[in-house]
Formats: sequence, structure tokens, C-alpha cells
Amino acid sequence: MDRPIYVAASILSADFARLREEVMAVDAAGADRIHLDVMDGHFVPNITFGAPVIKAIRSASPKIFDVHLMIEPADPFLEAFADAGSDSLTVHAEAGPHLDRSLQAIRALGKKAGVAINPATPEDAIEYVLDRLDRILVMTVNPGFGGQSFIPAVVDKIRRIREMVGDRPIEIEVDGGVAPETAGLVAAAGANVLVAGSHVFKGGSQEAYAANIAALRTAAETARSRAAA
Ligand code: DX5
Ligand code: ZN
Repeated sequence: MDRPIYVAASILSADFARLREEVMAVDAAGADRIHLDVMDGHFVPNITFGAPVIKAIRSASPKIFDVHLMIEPADPFLEAFADAGSDSLTVHAEAGPHLDRSLQAIRALGKKAGVAINPATPEDAIEYVLDRLDRILVMTVNPGFGGQSFIPAVVDKIRRIREMVGDRPIEIEVDGGVAPETAGLVAAAGANVLVAGSHVFKGGSQEAYAANIAALRTAAETARSRAAA
């Protein structure tokens, strides 16, 4: 059974000077989740924000806070991100030698556990941790920046991951360059969570955000039902 399509708004493309209002606006505009990109300037060539910022905006929305950790190492910081109010913590398979341990630590903190894989990382990197996972975040750009172009070669990998997952209760999330033109491709391949930053925040108003989110959802749902027909 296919899971519903969920849209996660990446606040990387929000107006940081009005971060709280922006989170409230995408929530009211119909985003299913809030996606928070934590970058350390070491694992990825950019720095964003950490646990205190997440804590400060936690009360702006009751929706799932989906925290994408682009940090190396991640393990020493998991507790701080859990305490800040994250619902789900995703670590990169490339960011540490003990992925299995990191995933156990996330679940021990009572949070949903995710693993992210970069475009060049093959799906076998996660083959032996599937039973420790609630979500797999398939990067469709090289992590570090919003507004990059979708890498089409990754669509095949999504399809293979969908087969690997089988009936396990694992979500497949896609992040990077997701817009209506690409949402259909990834949804037909088996992804059910669409992370989008620049596409969602285009237009700068709650009305624009609602239309942007609806367009993503429609593109994904249409492509998925076509693929199933
Ligand atoms: C990139 C981040 C993404 C980013 C996506 O490293 O993980 O979540 O916000 O941005 P867009 O949707 O603009 O490609
Ligand atoms: Zn992300």
C-alpha cells in the first residue's frame, strides 16, 4: 500500500529575519511537515543554524519537525536536537563510520530515525540498517544549498530503494530541486515525502505558499496514479 504524499517545507528558503512567521505561514498554507536543514560548514560547504534556533521556532507549528543533519560527527549533538523539539532526526550515511549506532541512538531518544544518502552514494549503504529506519532521505542535489538543479540519475535509485523497502513501514523522502516538474518523477518512482524549499517559498506570501504546496501535491499524486494504472 502506498503511503499518502506529504509535503515538507524546507525553511532554508524562508526569510530568516521573519522565521517564526514564515513557519506559521507554511503551516497555514498546507505544508504537512517543517523540514529543518542543519549545516556545519564541514560535512557540507555551508553553515545554517543549530538546536537553539529549532527550539525558538518549535512553538510556531505543531506539525512534524523533520530535522536534516548535515553535520559530521552527528552523534554528540543528537540529544540537543531531540531536546530542542525535533520529531525526526536524519543523519547522513556518509557522515560517520557507525550508522547503525547513530540510528539506535536516535530511537533511544524517542525520535523517528532517518538516514540521508547523497546523489553519489549507492543504495547498498543502507541495506543492513533498514530495520532501524523510519525514513530514507534520498538527496536529489548535493547537499549544502537551496535552489540547485534536480539530478535525474537519482530517480532510478529511488525505484531501487522502493523495492528494497518492500512492506516495511519506511518513508522515502526526496530533497533537492523538487518542483512540480520533478515531483511527478520521484513520486512515480516510489517517494512519498517531498521536501521543497525554493519552490514552496516562491512568491513570499501565504497565498503563494498554498498554491506552491498544492501544485507539488497534485503533480505527485497525478504521476503516482498514472504509474499505478
Ligand atoms: C539542501 C537541503 C534542502 C534544500 C532544498 O542541502 O537539504 O532541504 O532546502 O532546497 P530546494 O528545494 O530549493 O532545492
Ligand atoms: Zn534537507
